[in-house]
Amino acid sequence: MKEYLIVSYSYTGHTHRIAREIQTLTGADWCEIYPWQPYPMAFPELLEQVRKEIQTGYHPRLLPGTSNPKPYSVIFAGSPNWCGHIAPPLASWLAKHDLSGKMIMPFYSHCGGVSCDFGREIARLCPGAKVCEALGVLENPGADLPRILQDWIKKTFT
Ligand SMILES: Cc1cc2nc3c(=O)[nH]c(=O)nc-3n(C[C@H](O)[C@H](O)[C@H](O)COP(=O)(O)O)c2cc1C
Repeated sequence: MKEYLIVSYSYTGHTHRIAREIQTLTGADWCEIYPWQPYPMAFPELLEQVRKEIQTGYHPRLLPGTSNPKPYSVIFAGSPNWCGHIAPPLASWLAKHDLSGKMIMPFYSHCGGVSCDFGREIARLCPGAKVCEALGVLENPGADLPRILQDWIKKTFT
């Protein structure tokens, strides 16, 4: 069995920066996910759509080519915090795969606004998975990022 897979959705690149750093630290395979229909560029339209999708529990269709999680035992799952929730594209990916028996390490990027309970949302989407403590990272962590990630990974695995 392979060890680690990183799955991440990012709208403006911050979450993917975290994912890249996790890859550097762990040597994990990394799968970026994209919605079939890109989100609007303009913030008011984006916010309206995101709110609607979250309220209705909508899971957008994803572009093909996302990785099969079967061979992996640990999944790092990340997205931005959108309106206090995980972004719908990540919810789509998690809901469509059977991740029971796997360990999930949730992470998210945020701007210090409304907080979210990523771990609880992911546990609801992934019955039977062991969901670890989620890591929230401010959108511009600078040079601290590797240390923040190392501490989180060390704490989780010891
Ligand atoms: C539609 C929308 C909703 C957001 N809601 C929140 C929020 O509730 N709390 C927060 O701290 N940040 C919020 N943010 C800020 C993003 O989480 C933050 O900019 C993050 O770093 C973006 O990650 P990304 O570059 O991977 O897309 C929101 C951003 C957008 C576009």
